[in-house]
Amino acid sequence: MSRFDGKSAVVTGAASGMGRAIALALAAEGASVVVADISADGGAETVAMIDAQDGRARFLRTDVSSSDDVQALVDLAVSAHGGLDLGVNAAAIENETSPIADCEEAVFDRMIAVNLRSVFLCMKYEARAMRSQGRGGSIVNIASTNSFRPQPNQAAYTASKHGVLGLTRAGAVDHAADAIRVNAVCPGAIETPMLLGAIEARGRDKDEVARRLSLFGRFGTTQEIAQAVLWLCSDESSFTTGHALAVDGGYLAR
Ligand SMILES: NC(=O)c1ccc[n+]([C@@H]2O[C@H](COP(=O)([O-])OP(=O)(O)OC[C@H]3O[C@@H](n4cnc5c(N)ncnc54)[C@H](O)[C@@H]3O)[C@@H](O)[C@H]2O)c1
Repeated sequence: MSRFDGKSAVVTGAASGMGRAIALALAAEGASVVVADISADGGAETVAMIDAQDGRARFLRTDVSSSDDVQALVDLAVSAHGGLDLGVNAAAIENETSPIADCEEAVFDRMIAVNLRSVFLCMKYEARAMRSQGRGGSIVNIASTNSFRPQPNQAAYTASKHGVLGLTRAGAVDHAADAIRVNAVCPGAIETPMLLGAIEARGRDKDEVARRLSLFGRFGTTQEIAQAVLWLCSDESSFTTGHALAVDGGYLAR
């Protein structure tokens, strides 16, 4: 018996990076996963990887900033996998390189739509499905160490990730009575296309960044994030809700 046998999960941002690792890990422990992402190629690859490990998954191209898409995603999990037990909201973008005085308003608006309003939409429809089936559930939002401490030239991203923590705590308060737990994982510097793209855009040195952003002098792995997410999804964390779990190589301790 695996931890997530018989469980139905949606994972957004599952075409790449952490979302993919989380989808693979959930499926490896028995969950049926709907892989959601705006990238159809990456999403299909994730499903192929899960198929190759004899897991159960299907892909739905989803723009998490669209309410219709998010509703369709939750509806698919419910109709194809018999309900919804787990919602992991990992999709986001990060493409700012200027201080707030030069931050384009369109950049701010897009970041809030994709990184924050999306989490509201996902939580809303995930919690609605979980509440109506009456067996509770677990929602895990991927926030950031930027939810606590901003990096330079990331005002919109930082605002969005502070907001994700607010939604996490509000969701925990609103839905405890429905046996729905809502938590956040706050990654530090994790080696993914997003981090490598940000380093390149800023012309930084990878080793210097790793030393500065982690007490271990290395980047975290997507598997290290997936293990934390799986704990928060599982009954092992049954008394934990509204919590922000930093998985950051000690960055916030400094
Ligand atoms: N990598 C890091 O160091 C780091 C640190 C802290 C927090 N995070 C957070 O971790 C999460 C995962 O990031 P990652 O590093 O794995 O990035 P990634 O770029 O590898 O993956 C993000 C995924 O989100 C998808 N996506 C983007 N916009 C979308 C949209 N509108 N609708 C649906 N999907 C969309 C992308 O296609 C991509 O597959 C994000 O929430 C990110 O903010 C990352």
